[in-house]
Amino acid sequence: MMGFFDSGFGGLTVLKSVVQELPEYNYLYLGDNARAPYGERSPETVYECTLQAVDFLLKEGCLLVIIACNTVSSGALRRIQQEFLPSAYPDRKVLGVVRPSAEEIVDRGCRRIGILATEGVVRSKIYTEELEKLNPSVKIFYQACPLLVPIIEAGKQDEEHSDVVVSEYLGSLFAREGDIDSILLSCTHYPILYEAFRRHTPPHVKILTQGSIIASKLRDYLARHPEIEERLSRKGTRAFFSTDSPEKFNRLASVFYGECIQSMPVTLGFSD
Ligand code: DGL
Repeated sequence: MMGFFDSGFGGLTVLKSVVQELPEYNYLYLGDNARAPYGERSPETVYECTLQAVDFLLKEGCLLVIIACNTVSSGALRRIQQEFLPSAYPDRKVLGVVRPSAEEIVDRGCRRIGILATEGVVRSKIYTEELEKLNPSVKIFYQACPLLVPIIEAGKQDEEHSDVVVSEYLGSLFAREGDIDSILLSCTHYPILYEAFRRHTPPHVKILTQGSIIASKLRDYLARHPEIEERLSRKGTRAFFSTDSPEKFNRLASVFYGECIQSMPVTLGFSD
């Protein structure tokens, strides 16, 4: 089984693409909706929440966990990989979304890229760190969009103010940095507002989203790691867990995922 974790609904945009690309495997999704958003939390709090979430997914039997969240991938993933996994679950893997997205930025030939993300990701400068290793000539321009995750978690993405907020963030990025050739929606929640992003982005600017990127990189990863791939169950099952009420999760997640979802509640333990 493969596990997907996000602070809330955003990781569903990644899981949806992965399931389309690799339908045969079993998947388990966990959204920590009760504690979302993570974007403005301290790295220590994000780490503690992530540790509980990853431990839950590994105990459920996931051999591979995808952190379908940029905030967690920038703030906690390395510690999970280096401090937690080797002693607790040496035969399992936990992967994030930043490195594969940085590879895609380089593969697609982006030269001047806007990174739209949470405060936590912007503060971490994780895309600068990853892109410096891959192609230091790529210019990166960050724009924090702190209001978007709360709007989406509340299911208010179709209300007019969400369009206004997206237009303000993009307006300020383009006014400040001018000549940008691409933007990456570097928060897995943002594709839910893709139409608004497209409306307020100049037509010649490419918009990269992470669902399709992660789906194709995961396919490559599994091909390169038969020791994991051969142990994955292939019954096409999907299970969904949320730390918030199942009714709310089922209603909104079904909209975001495009299929009816029946989730189960889980308590991970509150640290704040
Ligand atoms: N989907 C998460 C991300 O990609 C949102 C983080 C949050 O909870 O603020 O960063």
